[in-house]
Amino acid sequence: MAEDPAVPTQSDKRWRRWTIIAVLAFLALGAVLGFLVLPNFQRENAQLGLWTAMCRALGVESGSPAYRQPTSSARASPVSRVEWGPDILRLLDQGEPAQGARIAAQTCVVCHGEGGVSATPDLPSLNGQAAAAIYKQLDDYRSGARTHPLMTPVAQKLQSVDLANVAAYFGAAALPRQGLGPRDQAADPSIVRLASEGDSARHIPSCNSCHVNGAGGPIETPILTGQDHQYLQRQLLAFRTGGRKNDVYRRMRAIASALTDKEIEQLPRYYQGVR
Ligand code: HEC
Ligand code: HEC
Repeated sequence: MAEDPAVPTQSDKRWRRWTIIAVLAFLALGAVLGFLVLPNFQRENAQLGLWTAMCRALGVESGSPAYRQPTSSARASPVSRVEWGPDILRLLDQGEPAQGARIAAQTCVVCHGEGGVSATPDLPSLNGQAAAAIYKQLDDYRSGARTHPLMTPVAQKLQSVDLANVAAYFGAAALPRQGLGPRDQAADPSIVRLASEGDSARHIPSCNSCHVNGAGGPIETPILTGQDHQYLQRQLLAFRTGGRKNDVYRRMRAIASALTDKEIEQLPRYYQGVR
């Protein structure tokens, strides 16, 4: 009797059954691997719960199962990594001016001038600056919180102890601020008032409350008195545009954004002591 090709034979049926079993087994293996074994393995690396890892594998929860996701604050670029804890304050306190003088002679004075007294408006003077301000700015250049094509590579070659040593050498306690014009020369009275009293209507605090006499401001507040006005003006403009953003709590960005162009030009002249 000739076989009817439309009627499956016994061996056809067996083949079909085995094919179905093989496909199901394959799917089951894939599911076990994909949703149980792999998430479990990744969960150990990423320290996630098995359930979370499985949900992520299924795509019902966000995140790659393979790596722990950074929190949003860790993802943003740091404002500064300098935190004034006891270790860093001790380091600053133990800074050795003689060691700092050696580094300064080798590295810094070509740009910042002999004794830190700058000869050009492109470069800030360092003599008589607050030691904590010098330390923080150098560490910010090192970490990338503040960037500049000339300063970044210089700072990146220094160790924390070097920063403390140069800060001790140039710092206000060791090298007085000289060769620089005095503040408080006759200036536009509205500028003097802004510097000494601020402007409550625009939520601008008095500049002097932080920058002069120190006491009211954060420890890293730089001394402005006598600094070149073009340098100070450039910094205010950089704070205003956000080109410089290493000020903790955005203090200076907020203040600079509230100032007029004229004030950004005049306040630095007042602090340098030029008209
Ligand atoms: C190649 C030139 C160059 C050298 C070398 C150099 N600096 Fe600078 N430094 C600059 C410039 C330019 C700036 C201003 C950068 C800016 O506008 O951000 C600056 C800024 C700084 C500031 C920030 C000051 C402030 O009040 O904002 C500090 C602190 C500083 N330098 C310290 C040092 C020390 C310490 C050394 C030596 C270890 C050094 N620099 C070597 C060019 C240099
Ligand atoms: C609440 C305290 C505070 C007040 C008020 C304040 N500043 Fe500042 N200022 C700071 C601190 C802190 C820094 C250093 C920021 C950083 O960490 O880089 C700074 C930095 C600056 C710089 C950069 C100096 C340098 O050497 O790099 C300028 C310029 C400046 N301030 C000007 C002003 C003027 C002008 C005013 C008033 C309109 C003012 N500030 C009010 C705290 C203050």
